[in-house]
Amino acid sequence: ATKKLLVLPGDGIGPEVMNEVARVVAWMADARGVAFEISEELVGGASLAVHGVPIRDEVIAAARAADAVLFGSVGDPKWASAGFDLRPEIAILKLRQELGLFANLRPAKVFDALVEASTLKPEVVAGLDIMIVRESVGGIYFGTPRGIETLPDGSRRGINTEIYTTSEIERVARVAFDLARQRGNRVCSVEKCNVMESGLLWREVVTALHAREYADVELSHMLADNCAMQLVRNPRQFDVIVTGNLFGDLLSDLASMLTGSLGMLPSATLGAVDDAGRRPALYEPIHGSAPDIAGKGIANPLAQILSFAMLLRYSFAMEADAALIEQAVANVLASGLRTADIMSPGMAQVGTSVMGEAVVRELDKL
Ligand code: NAI
Ligand code: MG
Repeated sequence: ATKKLLVLPGDGIGPEVMNEVARVVAWMADARGVAFEISEELVGGASLAVHGVPIRDEVIAAARAADAVLFGSVGDPKWASAGFDLRPEIAILKLRQELGLFANLRPAKVFDALVEASTLKPEVVAGLDIMIVRESVGGIYFGTPRGIETLPDGSRRGINTEIYTTSEIERVARVAFDLARQRGNRVCSVEKCNVMESGLLWREVVTALHAREYADVELSHMLADNCAMQLVRNPRQFDVIVTGNLFGDLLSDLASMLTGSLGMLPSATLGAVDDAGRRPALYEPIHGSAPDIAGKGIANPLAQILSFAMLLRYSFAMEADAALIEQAVANVLASGLRTADIMSPGMAQVGTSVMGEAVVRELDKL
């Protein structure tokens, strides 16, 4: 079967780092005989400039029809003062919503060669490889009632509501348990059931699902505040962490900095498997469009390349190819090549395309 990819480079450094993925895709076709049917569309400021909207309905439809979406990043200071609907960032928000992408996977992995880039001591982060699964379409960011109300005495109050249903908790927990089986076989479920009803239900539902379907996976529970502390104290105790939208937002940002390098971190966002067995999925680096370095040819392409590796692993079950790409990245780093964002003394500083070429050269050797 042909593998249909929709590529959405977006703005700023998005197209620059996506060019480097194109080299890897070409290598996959040449060396491994894996061909993708690729279509490419404008999103974000690039779409606004041509079509007047951050994302066209046709592009959303194409995303639905694709087996996987590879996304760059959107955001352009040119549109900073435009109305809310005319912000480039609407493109990614709409895609997440329209495709029902409820499980955001954020790995925090420290490559051996980059241990020194971490904000923590080398002995704490060496070998770190954790996966945070954040529920991404529910919880307090979306619950109603919400709003700012004026009370009879003239004072005002802001309201948000955290709601999680049994099925919302189950589907994201399933993603975490399934992932754990492909990794270290351990899941830590994180909430604040000591003070929140939604957290109480979360723990109950995860515990029941575990007993019913995933008893082979080791499950633990942790309160979110403790989890933040433990991530800094001893992050290697974790394999897969599953949590709600708000705590996941904070904990995944915290975990990303353990690795010390925004330009290295990929992500995946998965939706529900449909009746035909297809699952919508979008892969993107966690960094944005980096307008401060756009056009200079110095962006780190590794997060985008690693996002493509995640795509192979989770959308096409091409574990061997995904691991090969990750190994090539590790080897390039071990050989001393660095883009500016991960540069350290004694290493060789290179630009975006030299880094991309180096990954393909390593792939050739593997
Ligand atoms: P950013 O991630 O674009 O940049 C933060 C800092 O990290 C900058 O100094 C940048 O130069 C550096 N950086 C980021 N990626 C890099 C890479 N691959 N190589 C080397 N250096 C890198 O975040 P910022 O500046 O807050 O946002 C810029 C724009 O991107 C905004 O419009 C924002 O809304 C958008 N954004 C879009 C995202 C998306 O498309 N999903 C995610 C985050 C931000
Ligand atoms: Mg965030």
